[in-house]
Amino acid sequence: MTRPPLPLTVLFAMIVSTTACDSGILGEESSCPEDEPSTETSSQTRDIYVVQAEYEDALDEEGVLSADACMALCKAYWQDDVDSFSITDCTDVTVDAAEPMLSCEADVTRWLCEGRAHEAVGRQERVWGPTAEARWLARATHAEASSVGAFLTLARELEAHDAPQDLIDRARAAAMDEIAHGQTLGALAREAGGRCQPLVFGDTPERSLEALAIENAVEACVGETWSALVASWQAIHAPSEELRSTFSKIASDETRHAELARDLHAWAMDRLDADAQGRVHAAAEAAWDRLVAHLHGFDGPTSLGLPEPDQALALVGALRAAVA
Ligand SMILES: [Fe+2]
Ligand SMILES: [Fe+2]
Repeated sequence: MTRPPLPLTVLFAMIVSTTACDSGILGEESSCPEDEPSTETSSQTRDIYVVQAEYEDALDEEGVLSADACMALCKAYWQDDVDSFSITDCTDVTVDAAEPMLSCEADVTRWLCEGRAHEAVGRQERVWGPTAEARWLARATHAEASSVGAFLTLARELEAHDAPQDLIDRARAAAMDEIAHGQTLGALAREAGGRCQPLVFGDTPERSLEALAIENAVEACVGETWSALVASWQAIHAPSEELRSTFSKIASDETRHAELARDLHAWAMDRLDADAQGRVHAAAEAAWDRLVAHLHGFDGPTSLGLPEPDQALALVGALRAAVA
């Protein structure tokens, strides 16, 4: 991973300003990814109970649940933290008529990397909300709030590794930013009817510098940097002034966090031997691959200014070419 020739604020502005594959702003390597990822598997099957009255309403005249009606019920009941899903199959597996149950199969797409994660902080597993916007906001709120704990824990770890005071101070300052992000997005999520699980914080782990560097590379140099770019995109493309202003502030802060990640990366890599550096690099490359794989077919709510799937792939391609 090399430091880009430009500050990330400038780089993000350049990437966001054009998503065309042949724009050439970042040189020949800035082309969009062409190969379909081979590692993405997002098919899920769940048994879902359905309200009896709704099930009976969906039956045809012979009392049979048609394939289309079955799929429609699956679609109505499939709620969780995914950003988009497509029901691919449905089987009526009802045993007790009072408790109708369907076996639903769906292709799901998850939105990754909102905020910085940490080994000591529980990941978001489920969110609820009546709309894709509400669920995205709920998940983002959880990620932002989790990042508070991630940065505070990171600061303590950096102290234990005798890191420069500047890095420690910036990690603590980032935690304050994340509090504000959580509050702002939390208000929007509540307004939209979104809910998420409580935060879970563990103890500060005693980890090697290599483990810390790998997490920083994956969660921050890839994940948080991607989040910063997406927020920069939303700051321009969100449909209302309120949302553009919100994401503009978040983008500014997240870009600073991404710079912190790169400085932390440089500091840590200087202290690791060549084998460990190779493992950090490999972990980052794998994280980029996973991110690209997950962005194929991404269908996040554009009503929040999120990029279309082809735009997201163009953005991540340009970003990876510039900073990886
Ligand atoms: Fe944040
Ligand atoms: Fe952040």
